[in-house]
Amino acid sequence: MKKNTHLIQAGRGKKWVGQAVNPPVVRASTITFDTMAELAHASQHKGERVPFYGRRGTATHFAFQEAMCELEGGAGCALYPCGAAAVSGALLSFLQQGDHLLMVDSVYEPTRALCEKILRPMGIDTEYYDPMLGAGIADLIRPSTKVIFLESPGSLTMEVQDVPAICRIAKQHDIVTVLDNTWASPILCRPFDMGVDISIQAATKYIVGHSDVMLGTACANEKHWPQLREHSYVLGYCASADDVYQASRGLRTLGIRLQQHQNNALQIARWLADRQEVETVRHPAFAGNPGHAEFQRDFSGSNGLFSFVLKQGGAKAVAAFVEGMQYFKMGFSWGGYESLISPTLNVQKLRTASHWPYQGPLIRLHIGLEDPDDLMADLEQAFQRYQAAL
Ligand SMILES: Cc1ncc(COP(=O)(O)O)c(C=O)c1O
Repeated sequence: MKKNTHLIQAGRGKKWVGQAVNPPVVRASTITFDTMAELAHASQHKGERVPFYGRRGTATHFAFQEAMCELEGGAGCALYPCGAAAVSGALLSFLQQGDHLLMVDSVYEPTRALCEKILRPMGIDTEYYDPMLGAGIADLIRPSTKVIFLESPGSLTMEVQDVPAICRIAKQHDIVTVLDNTWASPILCRPFDMGVDISIQAATKYIVGHSDVMLGTACANEKHWPQLREHSYVLGYCASADDVYQASRGLRTLGIRLQQHQNNALQIARWLADRQEVETVRHPAFAGNPGHAEFQRDFSGSNGLFSFVLKQGGAKAVAAFVEGMQYFKMGFSWGGYESLISPTLNVQKLRTASHWPYQGPLIRLHIGLEDPDDLMADLEQAFQRYQAAL
């Protein structure tokens, strides 16, 4: 089955949808049983998409979880109220006091905050590593290393990691690998083929695609699914049927949306790369991007999210750039149908284990589904305001 067909088919078996096209929205806390035998059956199979209790999900959740496993891979998919909860759920499921966690230095900033504000005080030691390290990660492994966390590409600075090399080393030491795979969505790479144990999606982004729902997923391979499922359940993570329904709905148009995000973003990224104000464009599909060879090897396409670095400018010039945009709204998220802009004045301040080679400010863009001509006209105005403010 080709990808766009699979996106339409996944999780829409008769057992979930009946004669309808879509699964029903089944909201439930309580699930009731008529007999002891039914109760026993549900208890025995509660981890296998059998109704048991609301927190374990209903047909709405089961259909979406099945779809995610079909598309992204894995033996099971745990659901969380947002992407950040998927990150904390996955890490808390596999780490204990005294453990060592290797965390990529280019990681989404709130993931770093989780390590420092929650995990470190619990006695879990996070060590950050250079996103370009690859198999060199072997030198950082200690007897207490239990998890290696990857995010590829880094969602701010776009370094593409050598995920297969890191996973190979991790397997030799029986270390769990967790990948924040949000940039790729479930369809631009094959995390389990690369050797990843757990793949996380902030479904809030491209899966939902309309900037109106928060949701997280973590798919796990056969070996790690039982522990991820049970620990996440015990920690109390769950998601509402309404939100999960919106995510299921989002999957159906994911392929065509991503195609358009990709086309629009590549056009605008190329235009930016030619501008004299721009030091560099960080886009995984560009030849100079760190990890471009890995991107070509491991990914089947790109999306709407990339960054560029301005040659110069402080807070005033950056404010002139980002304030007064017509179509780009300023905000931290991405993956919706609309364009977004978000500035970072000092990237180096966000990392501790790798050198950021540029002095100028970084601007991250999420290119939406608007006409790229309008977006470039908006950016042209931004460059004019910025030049005047330098
Ligand atoms: C790469 C990445 N991972 C995780 C998250 C967290 O997702 P959520 O906002 O749904 O908690 C985000 C959100 O921006 C993200 O960009």
